[in-house]
Amino acid sequence: MPQASKTTIFETRLGFYLAAIGSAFGLGNLWRFPYVVAQNGGGAFVLLYLFMVLLVGVPFLIGELMLGKISRSSLVPALHKLAGERYQVRDVRESEVKPAPWLRWLLKNAGTLGLVTTMVVLAYYAVISGWVLHFLMQLLVSLFNPERFHADGALKVLLDNGWLQLLLTSVHLLLVAIIVANDLEFGLEKWVGYCMPVFVILMIALAFKSLSLESASEAMQFLFYPDFSKLTLKSPGQAIGHVFFTLSVGFGSMVTFGSYLREKMYLPMAGFRVCTLDSAISLWAGVMIFPLVVYGNSDFGGPQLLFQTVPKLVSVMPGGHWFGVGFFLCLYLASLGASIGLFENVVANWREMRRVPRQRGASMVALIVFLLAVGPALSSSVLSGVRVGGRGLLEFLDEALINWCLPITALVVSQVVAWLLKTELMAAEFNDRESAGSERLYKNWIFSLRYVTGPIVVIALLLQLIAQF
Ligand code: PFF
Repeated sequence: MPQASKTTIFETRLGFYLAAIGSAFGLGNLWRFPYVVAQNGGGAFVLLYLFMVLLVGVPFLIGELMLGKISRSSLVPALHKLAGERYQVRDVRESEVKPAPWLRWLLKNAGTLGLVTTMVVLAYYAVISGWVLHFLMQLLVSLFNPERFHADGALKVLLDNGWLQLLLTSVHLLLVAIIVANDLEFGLEKWVGYCMPVFVILMIALAFKSLSLESASEAMQFLFYPDFSKLTLKSPGQAIGHVFFTLSVGFGSMVTFGSYLREKMYLPMAGFRVCTLDSAISLWAGVMIFPLVVYGNSDFGGPQLLFQTVPKLVSVMPGGHWFGVGFFLCLYLASLGASIGLFENVVANWREMRRVPRQRGASMVALIVFLLAVGPALSSSVLSGVRVGGRGLLEFLDEALINWCLPITALVVSQVVAWLLKTELMAAEFNDRESAGSERLYKNWIFSLRYVTGPIVVIALLLQLIAQF
């Protein structure tokens, strides 16, 4: 009974936090953050990233939650409501006048772009989740037969064998589809949230081991010492893209989560907490991984970075294989929670727009995403000859979607919230706390959405565009 669960899901604050963090925390923190930092020269990019989290990520995240909570809908139907094209229980639009045709076109297409982005991201996310499954299984076997595990060999087997990647991708997608089709996702996302403390303990242990390597000081200097000459015209766009990816902004998932929220929930605090926790985990992942990158002289950057480094670390530390199993198990759970968030987002939108039954919606989405995953899964083997702009298919998709599509959707959604959503309803969400600061906070938030964050995203996109030529 999806409708019933919808109203009861986030009855407790903890339930919401666990699910939102379960969705935000994923491969973005451990797999993508280190390699994007490596590609962008280290410390200066980390600073830029943190700056963007606070300046752009927090207000955008609050905006998406707000849109969902106020309109009580997922992204696409919410944007249709604002376009004045859908029945609404209460009026969520600031103006009574129906928006101009160009604006209605924009509202409808931004939602569609968000959903297409979600499906393609889910496709290659499932491929990388398959890599995690592969390492988990290899390390499990190594508990009984330690000699058999070779970190480099395990990665090579995977990269050379596209069909194995496709098989692992299908297993992952099937699992996600079964969970969503049976409406079990919120229970599971909460479990991901509960597993987080265990994961944090494992990451602390691995980071200490990593910090004991002689390469640690050079690595920490790389990670935290800002050398601004290393930044390029593309860096602001890459920082913003990654902020959105890691916070699950620009997909519509936070809008869906917002629509599941119960009445009493202080959105600014919720948004701020999710952002800070998520960034802290990413930084810690950097601390854990960079000493190994420097130690092993690994190729800087590239989607394989995490898989080149962590397996090496666990094969040299005492009892490392157990750590390895724990690490990849938690990482798999994290990627499962995030994949469920992505999948649920598509199904929720589809169901609300077309009234498709949950199970049928889930099967259709699984099929489409599987087809979309074939290219990225084969990109390091059968399709290794296919290069777009000098990159393999998986890397190209990652770059195009995260650095372009996500910021564009997020930008449109933020401006919709800032200009079209009823101010009275938004202010009420901020004034929930009856403190003198709440009203000021609301004014600052809306000001920053309207006049600060929007232009920052536009400038970052323009710089990125110039860098293409
Ligand atoms: N934020 C997730 C990560 O960092 O891996 C990715 C993600 C999950 C994006 C769920 C969107 C989403 F709905």
